[in-house]
Amino acid sequence: MKLTIFAATGGIGRQLLEQAVAAGHDVTAVARNPRNLPATQARVVTADLAAADAAALQTAVGGADAVLSALGPRTRADVGVVARGTRSITEAMGASGVRRVVVVSAAPVGTVPSPGRPHPPRHDPGDGFVIRYLAGPIVKRVLAANYADLAELEDVLRASDLDWTAVRPPRLTSKPVTGRYRTAYGQNIRGGIFVARADVAHYMLRALDQPETYRQTIGIAS
Ligand SMILES: NC(=O)c1ccc[n+]([C@@H]2O[C@H](COP(=O)([O-])OP(=O)(O)OC[C@H]3O[C@@H](n4cnc5c(N)ncnc54)[C@H](OP(=O)(O)O)[C@@H]3O)[C@@H](O)[C@H]2O)c1
Repeated sequence: MKLTIFAATGGIGRQLLEQAVAAGHDVTAVARNPRNLPATQARVVTADLAAADAAALQTAVGGADAVLSALGPRTRADVGVVARGTRSITEAMGASGVRRVVVVSAAPVGTVPSPGRPHPPRHDPGDGFVIRYLAGPIVKRVLAANYADLAELEDVLRASDLDWTAVRPPRLTSKPVTGRYRTAYGQNIRGGIFVARADVAHYMLRALDQPETYRQTIGIAS
């Protein structure tokens, strides 16, 4: 497939790039600092998603069969970039006639209110007692701005008419790819506290041609 990968310099993004090229896909890697990309045979496009240039984004996504994004804030000051950047990506996709997009969200987001979803469920059916009542509320308070950004990212996707999938991992690790992980539609994984960035990338690539994942949030954990 012809794939465009945003944030290809990040933890998940590098895995997407490496695995997609290894699988024989025709890849365009998008990065704000292309010098930070690993050596790759992919086509490279430079774009800063904090203030994206529509023409550059259309160059990046034009002709793609699908778009993948592992965009995330590097610093606190960057929080907000995911919703803003993804809005620019989806606008470029709309202008270029590209429909399929798979992005990274996060496990707690299903219960985070957003402008487009002001009354989410109080609890995620996949969360057990510890996540629901102890660890979850603390993490959600500490990372409230990050999760608000990701909840708005999901709003952007829901408001679009694209064939989107938002993958919601719990705590990410840098372990090698296993291809062995659990997934669930619209909910988190019971007892699933970790997943490897490499396995998130593996699943994002696998989901690309699965229509049953269109317009779905997907819980994932090792
Ligand atoms: N950490 C966790 O345990 C966890 C758990 C669940 C979900 N998540 C979500 O998963 C996301 C991805 O995780 P990760 O470990 O792969 O993140 P990461 O290594 O921090 O990568 C973030 C990527 O976003 C890019 N980026 C940031 N601002 C940008 C901008 N203005 N324009 C273009 N690119 C920009 C970065 O580019 P540069 O290389 O140029 O900085 C980098 O490629 C996280 O950001 C978070 O939202 C994280």
